Amino acid sequence: MTEIPEHLLKRSAARRGKSTGDEGSSGDASPSAAVEASASSGPSQPPAVVQAAAAIPRDPEPEPAKPVPSFVEAALSRKRMPMWAMAIPFFALLWAYSFAGTMQQPEVEDPLFIESAALYGSQGCAGCHGAGGGGGIGYGFTDGEVYATFPEPIDQIVHIARGSAAISGEQYGDGARPGGARVAGARGVMPNYDTGAITQNELELIVFHERATLGGEDTSSEAYQEWMEHMREVAEGILPDHAVDLELFLSCANPEYTPGASGNPEDPEECPGPHHSEDEEVASE
Ligand code: HEC
Repeated sequence: MTEIPEHLLKRSAARRGKSTGDEGSSGDASPSAAVEASASSGPSQPPAVVQAAAAIPRDPEPEPAKPVPSFVEAALSRKRMPMWAMAIPFFALLWAYSFAGTMQQPEVEDPLFIESAALYGSQGCAGCHGAGGGGGIGYGFTDGEVYATFPEPIDQIVHIARGSAAISGEQYGDGARPGGARVAGARGVMPNYDTGAITQNELELIVFHERATLGGEDTSSEAYQEWMEHMREVAEGILPDHAVDLELFLSCANPEYTPGASGNPEDPEECPGPHHSEDEEVASE
């Protein structure tokens, strides 16, 4: 059975005390009866209860409202976090997850992505082309820009190894690219990287970063996947790395896109980048 809360008893007692004095001869005035009456009568208390409450001996001097302790008052007046605000961390997490998906987050775990991104930063590319490849002093690599210039990685590899001063004034890349053909020197100087500062595999990794990570190039073809696997194995020391060899690269590159290229390598297997032609040969066998 319900008990009348202490403070209600006090309050009603106080009210009684103030207003009418003694008009309580109606009914049984014993505390237990009062309690029972209130339990059956619900929230609105009949006078009998009020009166009975006043008669409870352990509550001799009925006080008006107790002063609220300062810490309670502080707690009541303090601004509370609204209910909806509790959902914010949840949605932030959700957003982070969906965003991570679009940014190919799982692949970032791959050492190939980590190492190629680190090289892009440490070799100064990021300084002139933007950390995100958005461009700066040099051209941007995002939105397909870089593979519009160089349909195949090998021609880009040559361009970075040789730099732009060596072919100043000459057209390079795909002449039919949207936005117009590239002319070396038109935008400044792209430094050459055949100085021994980086190895062939490091150069390939940087090109991979510019194309796949920054440029969003489709990496799903078998040839591309094999190229990635090859870079991974060289990076892990399973296969040997080589010095940057501009002569070799020029023999591999496409003369249509690269001034001075022959497109006729002694051993196509030695050429950096995906090996499409062999894939096609294998497929047609
Ligand atoms: C000192 C600034 C600077 C640095 C460092 C630099 N670049 Fe460049 N890069 C340029 C400039 C300027 C151009 C355009 C040059 C021209 O007009 O021929 C360019 C052009 C390019 C192009 C041709 C893009 C196109 O669409 O025509 C590629 C690819 C490139 N850089 C890659 C790299 C890579 C990779 C690195 C790091 C290994 C790097 N750059 C470091 C300034 C820089």
